[in-house]
Amino acid sequence: MTNMKLSPWPGVIRAYADRLPVTQHTPIVTLLEGNTPLIPLSNFCKRHRLDLELYVKYEALNPTASFKDRGMTLAVSKAVERGAQILVCASTGNTSASAAAYAARAGIRSVVIIPYGKIALGKLAQALIYGAQIIAIEGNFDDALHIVQALGSQPTIEVVNSINPVRIEGQKTAAFEICDHLGRAPDVHALPVGNAGNITAYWKGYQEYHRDNVIRTLPRMFGFQAAGAAPIVEDRIIEHPETIATAIRIGNPASWQGAKRAIKESHGHIDKITDAEILENQKALAQSEGLFVEPACAVALAGIRKAFSQGLIPSGALVVATMTGHGLKDPQTAIEQIDIQPHVCPPDVQAVLKLING
Ligand code: F0G
Repeated sequence: MTNMKLSPWPGVIRAYADRLPVTQHTPIVTLLEGNTPLIPLSNFCKRHRLDLELYVKYEALNPTASFKDRGMTLAVSKAVERGAQILVCASTGNTSASAAAYAARAGIRSVVIIPYGKIALGKLAQALIYGAQIIAIEGNFDDALHIVQALGSQPTIEVVNSINPVRIEGQKTAAFEICDHLGRAPDVHALPVGNAGNITAYWKGYQEYHRDNVIRTLPRMFGFQAAGAAPIVEDRIIEHPETIATAIRIGNPASWQGAKRAIKESHGHIDKITDAEILENQKALAQSEGLFVEPACAVALAGIRKAFSQGLIPSGALVVATMTGHGLKDPQTAIEQIDIQPHVCPPDVQAVLKLING
């Protein structure tokens, strides 16, 4: 069954209820997430001589401006169903924003544990305004996740990181939407990899559609990490991960095995991308297509370019890349990399014309 004709869009749980662990009695906590656009990138392809049919799944258009809302609607609904009173998560920023929003919607508390000083400004603003209790630890995401894992045994607490399998279930709906939209699976699906929940979730979604004959072929899963935070690529825990893409500044991903399985089973690929390439591709996407994504997303675009140049993706392939979060979440990084100051001038037509004409 496909859901292209649902109108108005009811959110991912109601759209895909038959494929999710819910019953009629599950209280659905939703902000009508999902149904995000699949946008073709013809200018970007032309500019970089990519002979591909390339689309981005623009997850920035979810209610809290990242893909996390797909898993969060389900995690929070299930938490409320079992009577949990406090949501807890470790986060590089987007999970905390989403958890805080859905907790507010459900009328329960949220506590978010984040690495001090390493959260993009917009994400911090989100957690604050949604009313989360924010605990900033003097450590990184991996340290925060350890703490959260220990808290999960408390009966009133629900951990809403992707170590909660329900999060993965919700996130797999993005793969369903892509297939529903295209009428098939892409040849290659590329995405940024941090804690590795999302690549695990997409692969699960594609496999379920394939098993049920909704799609005839499966995509190859291509994951990309930041060069300073590439534990899966390097096959070792990175004690002190570093990258400008703070969303994926992770050295010991929880779903490491899920990512490895997705790549192996799909005959996919995993590689790492430098911070310079991340910034270049973030800007290139914004200036060629008018799409502003956060730095982590650019990892996938840089990765596609690299893989295409290495001959790992054939000409003409149908490729989808997930743009996981909105660029407005991290305004500081964008402003710092654009080396142009606005022109300041008197409020005068002639003065403005003079500037326009150079
Ligand atoms: N892109 C963005 C914008 C993210 O926020 C994340 C993860 C990823 C990609 C990677 O996804 O972890 O499933 O491999 N952010 C988490 C967070 C870790 O706390 O917001 P993943």
